[in-house]
Amino acid sequence: MALERTFSIVKPDATRRNLTGKVNAMLEEAGLRIVAQKRIVMTRLDAETFYGVHKERPFFNDLVEFMTSGPVVVQVLEGENAIARNREVMGATNPAEAAEGTIRATFAENIEANSAHGSDSAENAAIEIAYFFSGSEIVG
Ligand code: PPS
Repeated sequence: MALERTFSIVKPDATRRNLTGKVNAMLEEAGLRIVAQKRIVMTRLDAETFYGVHKERPFFNDLVEFMTSGPVVVQVLEGENAIARNREVMGATNPAEAAEGTIRATFAENIEANSAHGSDSAENAAIEIAYFFSGSEIVG
């Protein structure tokens, strides 16, 4: 399987608790290489655009509030089968359902403050990476 890239976010609940390094260590131990990374505060427009697919859902406004409530670390991860591997190491969206040893089972507070985001498909990974990074910021 060829090298693949995915987009990842260390969410505000994790940066607030100073857990970026611990999350990154779990990503790296899972065989993922952080080939781009920056700490930003998402604007409302960023969050609304990023989560646009969920805009009709009841939690949309809360999600936008949460994702703009503090710094996030946006990342490009590279590795074999990176999209699936990242979702595996993150664990299920709801930490109550996440497998032991995953990022969300270890660190997440609830389904909203769930410490990490990872792209769910190659198509979305490409869109999400291009939204936050220019080509020259990604160093493989
Ligand atoms: S679902 O329910 O399977 O469609 O959820 P999913 O597509 O995996 O993720 C939805 C994102 O919205 C965040 N979020 C919530 N999801 C479900 N229910 C509630 N109440 C909720 N609140 C927030 C969730 O953390 C997912 O964020 P990302 O960044 O995509 O993982």
